[in-house]
Amino acid sequence: MNYKEAIEKRRTFAIISHPDAGKTTLTEKLLLFGGAIREAGTVKGRKNSKHAVSDWMEIEKQRGISVTSSVLEFEYDGYNVNILDTPGHQDFSEDTYRTLTAADSATMLIDVAKGVEAQTKKLFKVCRMRGIPIFTFINKLDRQGRDPFELMEELEDLLGIRSYPMGWPIGMGQSFSGVYDRHAKKLELYNPDNPKDIDIIQLSGPDDPKLDEAINDEQLVSQFREEIELLDVAGDEYNAELIANGQLTPIFFGSAVSSFGVQTYLEHMLNLAPCPAPRNSSNGLIDPLEHQKFSGFIFKIQANMNPAHRDRIAFLRITSGKFERGMSVKHVRIGKNIKLAQPTQLLAQSRNIVEEAYAGDILGLFDPGNLRIGDTLVEGGSFEFAEMPHFSPEHFSAISVKEALKHKSFEKGIHQLTEEGAIQLFKTYNRFVEQQIVGVVGVLQFEVLEQRLKSEYNVDIQLERQPFTFARWITGPEEAFTKFKKTQKNLVTDRDERIVALFENEFQMRTAQEKYPDLTFHENSFFK
Ligand code: G4P
Repeated sequence: MNYKEAIEKRRTFAIISHPDAGKTTLTEKLLLFGGAIREAGTVKGRKNSKHAVSDWMEIEKQRGISVTSSVLEFEYDGYNVNILDTPGHQDFSEDTYRTLTAADSATMLIDVAKGVEAQTKKLFKVCRMRGIPIFTFINKLDRQGRDPFELMEELEDLLGIRSYPMGWPIGMGQSFSGVYDRHAKKLELYNPDNPKDIDIIQLSGPDDPKLDEAINDEQLVSQFREEIELLDVAGDEYNAELIANGQLTPIFFGSAVSSFGVQTYLEHMLNLAPCPAPRNSSNGLIDPLEHQKFSGFIFKIQANMNPAHRDRIAFLRITSGKFERGMSVKHVRIGKNIKLAQPTQLLAQSRNIVEEAYAGDILGLFDPGNLRIGDTLVEGGSFEFAEMPHFSPEHFSAISVKEALKHKSFEKGIHQLTEEGAIQLFKTYNRFVEQQIVGVVGVLQFEVLEQRLKSEYNVDIQLERQPFTFARWITGPEEAFTKFKKTQKNLVTDRDERIVALFENEFQMRTAQEKYPDLTFHENSFFK
């Protein structure tokens, strides 16, 4: 396979969902189709993802589970597929958001009974910001859920995205009979007694009498025909460009647990999803199809919980070119060459040492502490990819060290954890006594912070929870900004000395916005 073909056949995507929508189940089924696993249930210790802090630490100590599941790769129908794991549950953190910056498309998984939930909404926003294609899989059709039209309306109302159902369900729950593929005009029949046994019938269209024979329920079939007609007349038209820009989401229906609808989704998605996309850099757009030299950026750092081994794993998304083991690349921020030799592993299912990899693939690099989030590595050049954004934390604590003598270790520790992206560190602005404030996206991070400083730096800390739930990076004309800085309470600066305002609730934030209409309140640091 030549270079261009290798890139064109790569698909790197993330599944975004709220806990319990069925992400683990869907991922397992995808891996089964790809032949990457032989039986379901081996993706990760599935219950572990729901565990509390002590178990989480245990998992990290074993250094297997969450690392292994950070990226899963398999081949299907000639495609090289990479699924990026977006941690959910209690270990939801800024990492989850950042992982999305390494994806070229996303699949939004929705529980048919629950619709769009809180975490899905947050993750969707990040995908929207990046303008990547978003596919929707509505899951658990074997259970009674909400009306599909209502769900489409919800996508538009809550997320502001139009949708195009690629398939349409016939019945639901007890009466679930199958899904009709509007493009291929195929009917997939659901057999509740043996869901794995899927009958596929080619129809000439929804009016084909074969449909009546296959589904022996007059009312169900006529309701289905009415719905399809309504979709054809009043629904959005299929538009590849809008799908590519993430403005129209193709919807698929199925039941992940019964593997139903999963293959159809997978095939359409691979066909429609983009290959590794060009990225903005200090040298302009780097298009992997044109730029055949290796480049990549670090989007996630996984700490090693074992204090005897401080080295960490830095996850690099290859953005262009080809990786070959042993190659020498430039670490642009520090201006030095580093060799990607023996310690370089692709931490996929089998945790093999990779010999070669292409744009779109993810590499896990063992790192003694030289790499940080957003760093660029390039071969034979010197450009940097756009800065990795910080996202608004939702929980804040004032942090201090218990024993003043340990101040140095404390500073070193929190500096390290900030670079890893586990926490965001702010300093109070214009306060009599300067205080350090830690912000995190998921509350579990506080406990992780406390335990890691204790075990790795031998430092005890004191955390004092603050009532804020929003951080906004502020920009705007000088006059208004100066006035704002003088009058607004609860201002902090981030590690780049940018002014950030903290708010307790939406009302407080809106009031400030109304008072200062000339200022912009940014939800993340992704602005220039
Ligand atoms: P998550 O990773 O998104 O958190 O979800 P996960 O796959 O763990 O699924 C959450 C629960 O939903 C699981 O049940 C799973 O079996 C169930 N589930 C997933 N897909 C479907 C589906 O298509 N239909 C139905 N009816 N259920 C589905 P659980 O009872 O929490 O766990 P388990 O004991 O079944 O593993």
